[in-house]
Amino acid sequence: MNIFLTGSTGFLGGELLASLSKRKEVDKIYCFIRPGNEQDAFTRLKKVFSVHGDYLDSNKVIPVTGNLFDPHLTQSLQANKMLDDVDVIIHSAANTSFSRIYDDMLEQVNIAGLEKLLLWAKQLPHLHTFLYVGTATICGTDITHRSVREEESPNMNAQHLVRYTYTKMQGELLIDKYIPQEKILIARPSIIMGDSRNVTPRSPVILWAVATINQLRLIPVNEQAMLDMIPVDYAATSIIELLLAKRNHKVYHISSGQQGATSAHKLSISLAEYFNELPPFHFTNKLLLTQIKLWAKSRLKPDSELFNYGLYLDYWNKEFTDPGAIRILLAGLAPYLEFMELGQAFDNSRLLIDVPCVKQSIPAEVYIKNCMNFISKINILDGAIDP
Ligand SMILES: NC(=O)c1ccc[n+]([C@@H]2O[C@H](COP(=O)([O-])OP(=O)(O)OC[C@H]3O[C@@H](n4cnc5c(N)ncnc54)[C@H](OP(=O)(O)O)[C@@H]3O)[C@@H](O)[C@H]2O)c1
Repeated sequence: MNIFLTGSTGFLGGELLASLSKRKEVDKIYCFIRPGNEQDAFTRLKKVFSVHGDYLDSNKVIPVTGNLFDPHLTQSLQANKMLDDVDVIIHSAANTSFSRIYDDMLEQVNIAGLEKLLLWAKQLPHLHTFLYVGTATICGTDITHRSVREEESPNMNAQHLVRYTYTKMQGELLIDKYIPQEKILIARPSIIMGDSRNVTPRSPVILWAVATINQLRLIPVNEQAMLDMIPVDYAATSIIELLLAKRNHKVYHISSGQQGATSAHKLSISLAEYFNELPPFHFTNKLLLTQIKLWAKSRLKPDSELFNYGLYLDYWNKEFTDPGAIRILLAGLAPYLEFMELGQAFDNSRLLIDVPCVKQSIPAEVYIKNCMNFISKINILDGAIDP
């Protein structure tokens, strides 16, 4: 199997790369990678392998420099004859930001960039599978407090909380336009958070939100709402096993499902055990978020409900001496809180039935215990400033 992998420097893509490189079924992995500001593509690849001390076999793992922004991307991939033996494409690269400032970039990378890749892929002589890493959250905001099935998406009428999920939905639709149905495989992970192994997770993404919630302690979100979260090692292993399995469907959730879902309440118990010097967690109605924002701007009316939570206001005043800090943190956290309110779990029975070697994921409130040291080191303000 000769794989063309995009996004290998990312959170999930890095894990896919390191795991794929250990599989005997895989002959070559061409890593589509953009050079960094100070590092060339190969140095960036070496870094991916060094995170967990994995071995980089340079006969097997080959960097292919490029950028999804490049207007000539299709042509330059076509001109690269080395890539003619590619039979599997795994498209994991994406702009994953929830921030509105990136709306234009999200379209450029997640839709236009994908289309350039598809124009090349459809002409490949040996293409067997185009594996698109989508996201289960494309189901939108109308489905709440229940399990979501794969066939409910893509839904053109779905309302999206952020542009990111809209662009990922459009991505799925675009693939149908260029690639025959039998060659398409769509893996839709739920929320990927941390790593279940006792290792440093590849990325603070999502764990940043957990670290921020842990630091704030008074959180305007429904603590009982289901949260479908999986660790990155589980996500990568499941996707690889799915790729290698005999499948009965085109689309699969890679998720905890309702039976393995966590909640803000369950996560807070694990966090409180480790970070026991902070005030106790308290969850309130989401409407309190507006009051917290006004409080952070010193514009909250004196008779407001938030003043009943003096313990937390005193703690915030001590902890965040710059009042702007709370505003910045809340701006970053707001979309995560909205996702948390939805109470969605993503049905994983297709995956568990078709790929029997993949078992139910470990609940997030259990494996998060391996991430506590990492969470304690996350600079939540830096993460909020660079979403
Ligand atoms: N993380 C989650 O919770 C989650 C959940 C569900 C689905 N997913 C999906 O999983 C996939 C991987 O997500 P992730 O968390 O690994 O994301 P990530 O850590 O943000 O990584 C994104 C990857 O895409 C690459 N990329 C971005 N823009 C590019 C461009 N213009 N040209 C070439 N490469 C570009 C990045 O390269 P650089 O290193 O050069 O920036 C990086 O390798 C995405 O498709 C995402 O939608 C993620």
